[in-house]
Amino acid sequence: MSREGSTREWYRTYYGKRCANRNDLRTNRGVLFQALAMEGSVVQACYAIQHDPAQAKLLDVGCGSGADLFQLLRLGYAPENVVGIDILAERIAAARRLYPQIRFVQGDASCMDFPDGTFDLVFESTMFATLPDDALCAGIAREMIRVCRPGGYLLLVDWWMPRPGDPAYKALTRDRLRRLFFSGSDVELLKTQRGALVPPVGRFLSRFAPSMYFLVRRVCPFLVGQVAYLLRKSGHSTSLAASDHDQPTMLSEFTEDDVYAKAAV
Ligand SMILES: C[S@@+](CC[C@H](N)C(=O)[O-])C[C@H]1O[C@@H](n2cnc3c(N)ncnc32)[C@H](O)[C@@H]1O
Repeated sequence: MSREGSTREWYRTYYGKRCANRNDLRTNRGVLFQALAMEGSVVQACYAIQHDPAQAKLLDVGCGSGADLFQLLRLGYAPENVVGIDILAERIAAARRLYPQIRFVQGDASCMDFPDGTFDLVFESTMFATLPDDALCAGIAREMIRVCRPGGYLLLVDWWMPRPGDPAYKALTRDRLRRLFFSGSDVELLKTQRGALVPPVGRFLSRFAPSMYFLVRRVCPFLVGQVAYLLRKSGHSTSLAASDHDQPTMLSEFTEDDVYAKAAV
């Protein structure tokens, strides 16, 4: 089966096991606070980005029908400087209908056509957790790093809490992040920003006790299932980047054991 076909099959199985409106913000009340917390992690991670979004070139890898682009446009990224890529033709068609000014490409992110160093920010959201194939993910990670300009950023918004027994899912834990992005690459981890709660808890609270959502997240950081990792590719900054006040942290300093503690910032 082609990679596009197997991706389509993955989603057929996923929505077959769950209700069709599993991720529908309008009709599923379990989604709202999960989405708010996830968006919060993106915005807070972006505080550390030292470029002018209006000038920056942005790539959304595995963009789907473009759900995350809305929040990135709200942060000031200009549609004409944004590109989305996804392997599924129907999702790209939906994204084009939603965002006619944005360029969308149907293709495999493990072999992208963009020249080296094209983008100031390379973004992905919830793609790696749905791709348990590490060889494929390593190829995608390599490509994300290649198309990011030296001094540019990579923002990975994904699930980091392992889900044992589910072969269709593989969390983007720190160990996996290290293997995918830090073996032989000149990339630093700038920030880890916690976001949504693990789905059963987060969805329950969002639906039945929304006012408790952020309180629970604060007092139970170990229930946070999603994070935003902000990485930076080393190299000389161009005029887009202002002075860098961040103190980058080498990922190798961390172990998987401190993952939840480090997230609770
Ligand atoms: C969980 S969805 C996330 C979509 C979007 N980022 C969002 O948050 O709404 C993962 C997306 O990655 C895409 N994808 C999976 N494998 C891919 C590949 N090899 N190349 C490009 N896109 C891929 C899927 O088609 C799917 O749209």
